[in-house]
Amino acid sequence: MELADVLSQAKEIVRNARDPQQALERVLELLRRVPRYDWVGVYAVEGGQLALRAWRGDRPTQHVRIPLGAGICGAAALSGKVENVPDVSRDRRYIACFPETKSELVVPIFRDGRVVAELDIDSEQLAAFGEGDVELLKQLAEYLSALL
Ligand code: SME
Repeated sequence: MELADVLSQAKEIVRNARDPQQALERVLELLRRVPRYDWVGVYAVEGGQLALRAWRGDRPTQHVRIPLGAGICGAAALSGKVENVPDVSRDRRYIACFPETKSELVVPIFRDGRVVAELDIDSEQLAAFGEGDVELLKQLAEYLSALL
């Protein structure tokens, strides 16, 4: 599935959402179908930590709670900036979830100017994410903000 198609479907899912959690799960289900997106999840900021709200992938992660500032996820939550890590083995902040992961992208989700959550995507390919991914995922993050 193309990321652009996920985006247009996600817009409708969010617009028609009755149950925010269910809508979030449906969007992640679609996002997982994009080639190279091997594990996708949404972490929400809760009491000074990131808490895993929903995910899709072959296996669960042990890291269902991540302190703000820890790992690539925690860094993005604190800075509010996208983290695009082409080779996780060369980033000392990286917290390993899956041995297969080679690159990772984290996109903050804002509400009222504050980071309330983030999208986290792991890929088994090196440098899997480009500017096109970042732009479309920022748009998706805006839609998802309504569910968090
Ligand atoms: N690798 C992340 C932790 C989350 S897992 O990838 C699902 C990090 O370094 O913050």
